Amino acid sequence: MNYRVPRTRKEIFETLIKGLQRLEYRGYDSAGVAIDGNNNEVKERHIQLVKKRGNVKALDEELYKQDSMDLKVEFETHFGIAHTRWATHGVPSAVNSHPQRSDKGNEFVVIHNGIITNYKDLRKFLESKGYEFESETDTETIAKLIKYVFDNRETEDITFSTLVERVIQQLEGAFALVFKSIHYPGEAVATRRGSPLLIGVRSKYKLSTEQIPVLYRTRNIENVKNICKTRMKRLDSSTCLHAVGNKAVEFFFASDARYAIIEHTNRVIFLEDDDIAAVADGKLSIHRVKRLASDDPSRAIQTLQMELQQIMKGNFSAFMQKEIFEQPESVFNTMRGRVNFETNTVLLGGLKDHLKEIRRCRRLIVIGCGTSYHAAVATRQVLEELTELPVMVELASDFLDRNTPVFRDDVCFFISQSGETADTLLALRYCKDRRALTVGVTNTVGSSISRETDCGVHINAGPEIGVASTKAYTSQFISLVMFGLMMSEDRISLQNRRREIIHGLKSLPELIKEVLSLDEKIHDLALELYTQRSLLVMGRGYNYATCLEGALKIKEITYMHSEGILAGELKHGPLALIDKQMPVIMVIMKDPCFAKCQNALQQVTARQGRPIILCSKDDTESSKFAYKTIELPHTVDCLQGILSVIPLQLLSFHLAVLRGYDVDFPRNLAKSVTVE
Ligand code: G6P
Repeated sequence: MNYRVPRTRKEIFETLIKGLQRLEYRGYDSAGVAIDGNNNEVKERHIQLVKKRGNVKALDEELYKQDSMDLKVEFETHFGIAHTRWATHGVPSAVNSHPQRSDKGNEFVVIHNGIITNYKDLRKFLESKGYEFESETDTETIAKLIKYVFDNRETEDITFSTLVERVIQQLEGAFALVFKSIHYPGEAVATRRGSPLLIGVRSKYKLSTEQIPVLYRTRNIENVKNICKTRMKRLDSSTCLHAVGNKAVEFFFASDARYAIIEHTNRVIFLEDDDIAAVADGKLSIHRVKRLASDDPSRAIQTLQMELQQIMKGNFSAFMQKEIFEQPESVFNTMRGRVNFETNTVLLGGLKDHLKEIRRCRRLIVIGCGTSYHAAVATRQVLEELTELPVMVELASDFLDRNTPVFRDDVCFFISQSGETADTLLALRYCKDRRALTVGVTNTVGSSISRETDCGVHINAGPEIGVASTKAYTSQFISLVMFGLMMSEDRISLQNRRREIIHGLKSLPELIKEVLSLDEKIHDLALELYTQRSLLVMGRGYNYATCLEGALKIKEITYMHSEGILAGELKHGPLALIDKQMPVIMVIMKDPCFAKCQNALQQVTARQGRPIILCSKDDTESSKFAYKTIELPHTVDCLQGILSVIPLQLLSFHLAVLRGYDVDFPRNLAKSVTVE
């Protein structure tokens, strides 16, 4: 958005498209823009939407095909919005892409990152009021809702930010939103809760302030009818404008500064949850309805220390490496808007309507392939504990080969990053034929599995590009744990355990960062191991899945032989492989299997094996017998597998690089296997 810095429409397009391209790593199934229309006299009273399925390049081409758009038209004040989408609700298509609109006249348009969990209730309400929906998105409810609030306003001079304030009081879930409206030409309002949003400020002149005061509504003036039948909420009012500059200033709103804004300015303001930022008449104001005790009464304009080159793969040499390092954020995103750490509750919007039915089932069957199957193995025990149901975990192909009996009172989970894996999809159809309730756990909304299941969970890990799955595994893991927590909410006997796990979930992002800081040490280990032909990975209990998954990573991208061995089975065969030469990694954590793992360790060292041990930081017992140790932070036993898999992801990455292989595109493998 710019003020008195005349820009042609072409320049505006270029700025928006460039910004989207920088953000394309976040999602790439469709894209769209909203800009002011062509007619000079009424240009600010007409919003033009251009949306396209496909990548940003496709949108860029589409923009220039619009004959009605005069590229040379100059704007002194203009506010354009653009979005690249990675579907969470509704298949990728032009109509489902953003901006979403309030009506055919584009009175209000909005772009949204995040998920609105109560959108079905809101949609039902708005439909009952005669609003017609055109997309399958949760976002469209926001566009319709703001029009509803506007249509039912009690005073003519209601501000744009007041409308937005009322809208967000009705929203549950996570969002970063930017609105544009023909009723408020040249104005922008943005807000966030749970999803990042920031504002870049570029000015030719020195800004009048480095701090934007937050203005709070002071007097109660009205009650707002709560439209989705939850509690009545009170609203206060105030005026709330403060200038940061009023001569020649441009504002850039974006979900990620590093990518979309840095080429224009390194001066940014990070918005806090529930901040409402409005730009009108060249001035930026930020206000909040409620003041919390911990609130900082102003938002500083910060200077980012960052270079343009750091974007895209950034400092990473491969997408897989980038995805491994993204895990502090991706696991957070999986939980965002779902786990309430204050009330110790979990709400998975996609399952809540089926919860009763799931609770009545006779068993859970969790089905997947490759890494997704390992996520099922990893969480089986905690699911059994929290749901108090028998849990079967199945490789999709084997499940089908066996013609496994399935009944209508079974609940079948299908775990798949892509949502397209043929074996998993066939197993899904097999279970549907037998009338079981089917639940998808995917990273790709609009995929076959997410469409064909009765209900599901979107793991929200963000696009995964490297063929060897990493961040999808940890997010699948967390999604299944969250399901267990949701199922056990009413079990009095499980409350302490639930609290412990939820507490553990909260600290995971920080602990993952700690594990990632071991990267150099793991690189050194890879230097020792990369010429080997074979590598065994051994463990049991909660960490058996870590061994299977670690060995799979090593196989997939280093082409070394690697086996994940259940330590309990050691003496029934694998012990014959142990000698001085064979590299063995043992995963030994401070959990109920610790003593049994010590036995396995003794058996290995008694055969002159030289184990490399992944163990807890304070484990002096195991390290006595180790050839090498990698020490990990401690977390709740059932979540430890999230931390213990990461060193193995890193190890496989370094081994593959040292062996000279293409990490992201290993030979013979595909990211999504759509044949049986
Ligand atoms: C392929 C990929 C694996 C993945 C498996 C299951 O084999 O190479 O990385 O784990 O498919 O894929 P899905 O998309 O169903 O999770």
